[in-house]
Amino acid sequence: MTRPVRTIDGEAAPDDGFGAAIRDLYDLGPAPGRVLQVIEREDGCVSLEDMYRYYTSPDEWPAAERRAVALARGRVLDIGCAAGRHMLAMDGDREVIGIDPSAGAVAVAQAQGLDARLGTVLDPGDIGRFDTIALLGGNLGLLGSREEAPAVLYSLARLARPGAQLLAIGHDPTRNPLPEHRAYHQTNRKRGRLPGQVRMRVRYRTWKSAWFNRLLVTPDDLAVLLEGSAWTLGEVTYSGPVGFYLAEMAYTETPSHTEVPPAGDRAC
Ligand SMILES: C[S@@+](CC[C@H](N)C(=O)[O-])C[C@H]1O[C@@H](n2cnc3c(N)ncnc32)[C@H](O)[C@@H]1O
Repeated sequence: MTRPVRTIDGEAAPDDGFGAAIRDLYDLGPAPGRVLQVIEREDGCVSLEDMYRYYTSPDEWPAAERRAVALARGRVLDIGCAAGRHMLAMDGDREVIGIDPSAGAVAVAQAQGLDARLGTVLDPGDIGRFDTIALLGGNLGLLGSREEAPAVLYSLARLARPGAQLLAIGHDPTRNPLPEHRAYHQTNRKRGRLPGQVRMRVRYRTWKSAWFNRLLVTPDDLAVLLEGSAWTLGEVTYSGPVGFYLAEMAYTETPSHTEVPPAGDRAC
């Protein structure tokens, strides 16, 4: 993966509508209701996301997000950092690096003085290892699906120092009472998927992202996904919007976890 670092004045990549929305709100001055993006699920269910979310400060967050920032220690990696709202809240005694595949988001984070770089959870670049790895703002969803999760967990383990913690904000799909979501979860079960495997894309102005999976997962199903990985589930704290929780995971370094990638991630 090449890592061109764009300036705040640069053009967004053609598929980076998310980054364009983040940048438009940065340029306008962050305030609620000014820039919205559309979230479209494969079954046609649509919702609007207020991009102000990506500029909120700790006093506007659910307690689980504040707890994650308070727990972050040592060398910290914020995966899927967007504009860097959590990095901004981590005070100066921690080295904090953020990665995100959105060039527009990375440009805004850099403009806010943060050490943000282009990268993905599976291709983070040469950034070393960390004491704390953070998947905030719902980024536990980057596990993707039951099939994608092992490679993601393996990549996270390769970023971990001994004694590392993984702090992840997730959504428990079983707590969502809305009938359109419950029906979608039930269809997923029938298809053999985890109920909260959401196939979606985001749209802004004329941009449409590619379709991708985002995994909403119960803590019990998360514990099952972690079996055989280098991560062990510890405390779970529910707070904020329906089903929103912080999962605290600990890294256990063993030769099998550090040397053997999951089958789907092995080179031929
Ligand atoms: C729901 S937003 C959360 C952003 C940020 N953590 C926050 O709460 O403000 C998801 C973020 O993950 C990023 N992302 C998407 N796919 C990713 C991947 N494969 N690896 C890392 N980040 C990814 C998106 O560009 C976006 O910035």
